[in-house]
Amino acid sequence: MRKQIAAANWKMNLTLQQAEQLTNDLLSTNHKMGVEQLAILAVPFPYLTSIQARLKNNANMFVAAQNCAATKNGAYTGETSTEMLESIGVQYVLIGHSERREYYNETNSILTEKVNRAFENNIHPVFCCGESLNIREAGTQNSYVETQLKESLFHLNKDQMNGFIIAYEPIWAIGTGRTASSDQAQQMHEHIRNVIAIQFGDEIAASISILYGGSVKAANAADIFSKPDVDGGLVGGASLIAADFATIINSLK
Ligand code: PGA
Repeated sequence: MRKQIAAANWKMNLTLQQAEQLTNDLLSTNHKMGVEQLAILAVPFPYLTSIQARLKNNANMFVAAQNCAATKNGAYTGETSTEMLESIGVQYVLIGHSERREYYNETNSILTEKVNRAFENNIHPVFCCGESLNIREAGTQNSYVETQLKESLFHLNKDQMNGFIIAYEPIWAIGTGRTASSDQAQQMHEHIRNVIAIQFGDEIAASISILYGGSVKAANAADIFSKPDVDGGLVGGASLIAADFATIINSLK
């Protein structure tokens, strides 16, 4: 069975002390996870080891980096390589978040390189895709997202795609309070699974976890996650409140 995942994206928020407090609060909330359920906390780079240490007794909770370099180690001041992430035990990395695409000009071909670097160092990518409002209004969101997947993932082999994690995040729903309806999420998730099935086969398509992101809250998570092709969420704002994120974890199928 494919994994159901509640992923937190803390973005560039919190001091170390606040981050540690949030983690302690989350660990002391009443959240329950089965063997096929995961919580992944994408925390700022400087906090990875500290938060990871706090999660070590929780078999289903992991940290993720929010980004990684497209290149291997070398003269790239300010970058963080996947080899560095692997060396501190990080197992997940967000790749292609819309804020990275938009503010740091990360193109589909740069993201291909980041995905490759992640696999070279045994790190699972959480690959983000999603359309802007004008694309949604033009009604071309399906082909837009398909191109994102095609250009960054279609070179991978079936072993790499088995159990792969994709986050669909319509840009118009991120941080805006405007959530896609659960039916809109389901439609796109079904489309993504079909695109993967055509390229990699039905078995691989059934194995991938497709998370929805964009104003997921404690109050709407259960409705969104109830859809058959929605395998959890990538959560920004609401992941900064321990009780809300615990409710989101408990809303996983
Ligand atoms: P949001 O962010 O939940 O605050 O909309 C989601 C994300 O950007 O991953």
